[in-house]
Amino acid sequence: MKRVLFVCLGNICRSPSAEGIFRKIVKEKGYEEAIEIDSAGTGDWHIGHSPDHRAQEAAIRRGVDLSDLKARQVSSEDIALHDLILVMDRRNREDVRSMAQPEYQHKIRYLLEYSEQYEELEIPDPYYGGVHGFDMVLDMIEESCERLLDSIVDP
Ligand code: 4NP
Repeated sequence: MKRVLFVCLGNICRSPSAEGIFRKIVKEKGYEEAIEIDSAGTGDWHIGHSPDHRAQEAAIRRGVDLSDLKARQVSSEDIALHDLILVMDRRNREDVRSMAQPEYQHKIRYLLEYSEQYEELEIPDPYYGGVHGFDMVLDMIEESCERLLDSIVDP
């Protein structure tokens, strides 16, 4: 069993989108029993909230329903429990690194590190941008999640 946690700032845009997209890919490929998937935010402003409606609408257009997800804040137990903690940007990375014991630092990676298509490491925060930001974020997440699954099942 591999445990994967996606982390962003609010847990209402990028990381719940990654959770939903990765669940779909993992299910389609038949690895549901082998991979546990969750998401959390470094911030506490949106605890208990559903994903941003723009994120939900963009995900629905790709066949992914995020409506059951609820935002929560990442904890030190999360860092101990999960095998991979996949952050969206530098700020998330710094925040999670500062919470993590030295022996867990290696678990923290940028999701975009898995991409073969995108050269950059950060998935930009779409919260203050337009609708197109959400589609671009989903493109980045989808391609990275495909490669992520490859790396887990065929390392
Ligand atoms: P996320 O986006 O980190 O992708 O969930 C954000 C959501 C909310 C805020 C910032 C980013 N906020 O400042 O409230």
